[in-house]
Amino acid sequence: MLKFLARSLLLAAALTMFTNAYAEPIVIKFSHVVTENTPKGKGANMFKQLVEERLAGKVEVQVFPSSQLFGDADEIIALLKNDVQIIAPALSKFSKFTDVLQLYDLPFLFNDLDAVACFQESSSGKEMLDSMSKKGIKGLAYWHNGMKQLSAPVPLRTPESAAGLKFRIMSSDVLQAQFQAVKANPQKLAFSEVYLALQTGQIDGQENTWSNIYSQKFFEVQPYFVESNHGLLDYMLVTSQRFWKSLPADIRTELDKIITEVTVAVNDLASKENEDAKKLIIDSGKTEIIKLTAEEKGKWRAAMKPVWDQFKDEIGANYVEKAAACSN
Ligand code: LMR
Repeated sequence: MLKFLARSLLLAAALTMFTNAYAEPIVIKFSHVVTENTPKGKGANMFKQLVEERLAGKVEVQVFPSSQLFGDADEIIALLKNDVQIIAPALSKFSKFTDVLQLYDLPFLFNDLDAVACFQESSSGKEMLDSMSKKGIKGLAYWHNGMKQLSAPVPLRTPESAAGLKFRIMSSDVLQAQFQAVKANPQKLAFSEVYLALQTGQIDGQENTWSNIYSQKFFEVQPYFVESNHGLLDYMLVTSQRFWKSLPADIRTELDKIITEVTVAVNDLASKENEDAKKLIIDSGKTEIIKLTAEEKGKWRAAMKPVWDQFKDEIGANYVEKAAACSN
């Protein structure tokens, strides 16, 4: 009997060793819509590199940039179906899942990325990472891109000059209201379709960060940009509750550490990425970048700010007040 027990234990140990040696690594597909030379693109690649260094053989990361695997319309659904395990959509793209993140789209809410970080690092900002947990989405971190700039076939010095123009927006009702506030015509459109829509005149103008404007070549088909810094484009790195809970605890802990490290790096490099992209756009000589005077910027702010009152109750007035205080 003893011999039988010892033999069984040995066999079980050998089987475990065999299974571990030949176990398939856990695959994390990370899909996103931008190019690799952007803050998010660099962050995704950095995440892959660190995971594969520190969890070699246990976890493999496959990164799919430029909407190769999933685009705006389907990436969150793909996450919930476990067809992809990590994505980092712009905060503007979560409005079907939560109202609170609409905060980040309010025009002229944040002066700069320091003000954004001030709110995101507060207890309210952290709380928002959990705002979609009941829908099966787990917020892992905020990643910065930067402040958005406006462009059009005409110099947009004043809000009146935007009237009647069609602007591409992300799928956000706040952004829709923002352009309606200046009597423009907002059109919700997937990121991958913007260049062609600008080139063919399906839309007249757009708003985005310098890094996206440069990497998507929007500057080649837009004669005038204004450095409006009127809104924010930031991301939430998310996974599904289902996938996250399925991971062994030690792997989840290591992934958490890596995400914290990559988040610091992305958020440090985002401003420089946008400044560099702006310089490259200026050097191309293909478009004109207009700086607004304080008075002109004040007019844009006055025209768009009533949007806050439209969405304050849906978002939560306390969040709006706390976020606004970060820019005072
Ligand atoms: C956009 O649709 O303009 C952005 O969300 C793209 C991105 O992910 O930066």
